[in-house]
Amino acid sequence: MTLEEKIGQTSQRGTSSMGKGLSEELITKVRKGEIGSFLNVTDSQTINFLQKTAVEESPNGIPLIFARDVIHGFKTIFPIPLGQAATWNPDLIEKGSRIAAIEATASGIRWTFAPMLDIARDSRWGRIAESPGEDPFLASKFTEAYIKGFQGDLSSPTGMLACAKHFVGYGAAEGGRDYNIAIIHEQLLHNVYLKPFEAAVKSGVGSFMSSFNELNGVPATGNKYLLKTILRNTWGFDGLVVSDWNSVTEMIPHGFAADEKHAAMLSANAGLDMEMTSTAYEDHLKNLIESGVIAESQLDDMVRNILRVKLKMGLFEQPYTRFNHSIFYDEKHLVSAKQTAIESIVLLKNYNNLLPLDFKNQKIALIGPLADAPHEQLGTWVFDGESEHTQTLKMSLSEAYGKNLMFSKGLAFSRDSLTDKFDEALEIARKSDVIIFAGGEEAILSGEAHSRANIDLPGIQEELIHKLAKLGKPIVLIIMAGRPITISNIYNEADAILMAWHPGTMGGPALKDILNGETSPSGRLPVTWPKTSGQEPIYYNHKNTGRPASEESFVAIDDIPVGAWQSSLGNTSHYLDAGYQPMFPFGFGLTYSTFEYSEMTLNKASFSIMDSVLITFKLTNTGKAEATEVVQYYVQDITGSITRPVRELVGFSRVTLKAGESREVTYTLPVENLKFYNIDKEWVVEPGDFNIWVGPNCQEGLKSSFVVD
Ligand code: IFM
Repeated sequence: MTLEEKIGQTSQRGTSSMGKGLSEELITKVRKGEIGSFLNVTDSQTINFLQKTAVEESPNGIPLIFARDVIHGFKTIFPIPLGQAATWNPDLIEKGSRIAAIEATASGIRWTFAPMLDIARDSRWGRIAESPGEDPFLASKFTEAYIKGFQGDLSSPTGMLACAKHFVGYGAAEGGRDYNIAIIHEQLLHNVYLKPFEAAVKSGVGSFMSSFNELNGVPATGNKYLLKTILRNTWGFDGLVVSDWNSVTEMIPHGFAADEKHAAMLSANAGLDMEMTSTAYEDHLKNLIESGVIAESQLDDMVRNILRVKLKMGLFEQPYTRFNHSIFYDEKHLVSAKQTAIESIVLLKNYNNLLPLDFKNQKIALIGPLADAPHEQLGTWVFDGESEHTQTLKMSLSEAYGKNLMFSKGLAFSRDSLTDKFDEALEIARKSDVIIFAGGEEAILSGEAHSRANIDLPGIQEELIHKLAKLGKPIVLIIMAGRPITISNIYNEADAILMAWHPGTMGGPALKDILNGETSPSGRLPVTWPKTSGQEPIYYNHKNTGRPASEESFVAIDDIPVGAWQSSLGNTSHYLDAGYQPMFPFGFGLTYSTFEYSEMTLNKASFSIMDSVLITFKLTNTGKAEATEVVQYYVQDITGSITRPVRELVGFSRVTLKAGESREVTYTLPVENLKFYNIDKEWVVEPGDFNIWVGPNCQEGLKSSFVVD
């Protein structure tokens, strides 16, 4: 290969969909073998034309890879990733990403920029919607599932190359403001932020994306420590690394690169193989190599990484796509999207067991800007799913219970500030037995560059809810949003609260089945839910500090004084006006039943590194409905060479029990899973005392303890 042809492989160019923006200049480059990949070409004719040009007319006949952000579905849209994380069900995630791959590859897309593996501890950050939540263990389990699902058999025509992004620290944006700097000390980086990425390598992910942010002063796209020392040398990754959109040249405004040539030099030397959209490599690598600033062997390594992936994808054998649009929105895909939406929905409150509702005998007033918003319920990062195929809550309820349903939006959209539709909403509410208010935020209020400083319900939704509450009818609040929404002001107004995230194509039928009791909710929060955005960042696996707020100061959720100040909790770590507890803890979620945990035992009291802790306990469904409990196991390493989190998730399982049923449940925890990156930068289990809990969320449950010697 000539130098130009090698450099060509490192270039990923974008066009808008339908091939617009495909210039003669780009076609000529493909013909000369000077482009390696395209993103956002979705028109079948254009894809075939470009591939034919590359394979049949370019000097080496190297196929192109066509890439796209297929984040939570291609045509059939699944819940946003944060919603999928709330299922705590990796099997569903694997199925959903397989379906996404089947639909996308039938359109010629063989590379998705997913999964996003950024640990997110701040709900102000707009991209929390696309994250697996705040916990590294849970995120790693989802990582495995996403990659298995997306890639399948990578060399087959439905194999879609996955991309572990954004490497790394993007979710730790200071203040939750997108693209902001990340300051993460080395132990925290290893013990939290890198974990899902390492799981991605172990799961055979074929590509990585470097992130926009700087990490501890060095932009990730030019960060040799991340891209070479960790990714290649420590983890042995042999796939390709692509930049984020223009993130090579964005190292100039970062204040790291002086100009585009310098940016190209920094990224290539750091180990970045392919440049997305900007053209610093195309424009400067040749000169940098010829003048000896970059060794040609560095470029050879980059090209080898790219070609190895193309070979693994079977692109040389089968470069062309057999387009098959008949499988879009296949019945099986819709069933799977519905099940994922069902399991993603989290019941946050159910006062007096208001839910499930008796639709046959009750008059329902359905109100709210998200009750019938087909496009908005799909969520962020949806390029290809069409809202005509979306089933909203209003559609599903009117189809099933039309006679007993009255509908008024009340507000045209979440940020609407006009009260002119309030009267109509109040009128139907007056005639009803139960009010369902479906509010939240539209898709556009979360996602990239859509951070919010205040994460209350936008607009005057709270005002409408207060007015509805004055009628004295029971209220079910359904929140559709890309993040936890702070609801302290209206918590007491709603009798039942369901978090539905942005539930995707089948959100309506999924909500209907939960509301009518066809199924019991089983979603659990994958992120801590704050009372106010002033508590952010907030996460359960925090450190204790030397002055932790005490257990006695705990304020039960039902007792939160709306807008009131809490008395001082002494000289401890808390806020005078928000205490120290979140609104809902990580792992929280109710069902239509109740569960009792009892008789917890461990197989012994002290363990060596080679042992496993066998946890056994009895779980009883003490309520009146069949339900699924998401059993969670947490550990605290009480003392360490660096301070350790107050609790860390080390396992979970889903257990479905009939009303009144009991089961002995066991879980095996290998002691070596307790390793952490310690003060000496070694992965070790430090001998000492540990606490262990089994329970329904990170704050409750049975406790025991053991020793590792
Ligand atoms: O994949 C995305 C990335 O997550 C953010 N910037 C643009 C990329 C390509 O669309």
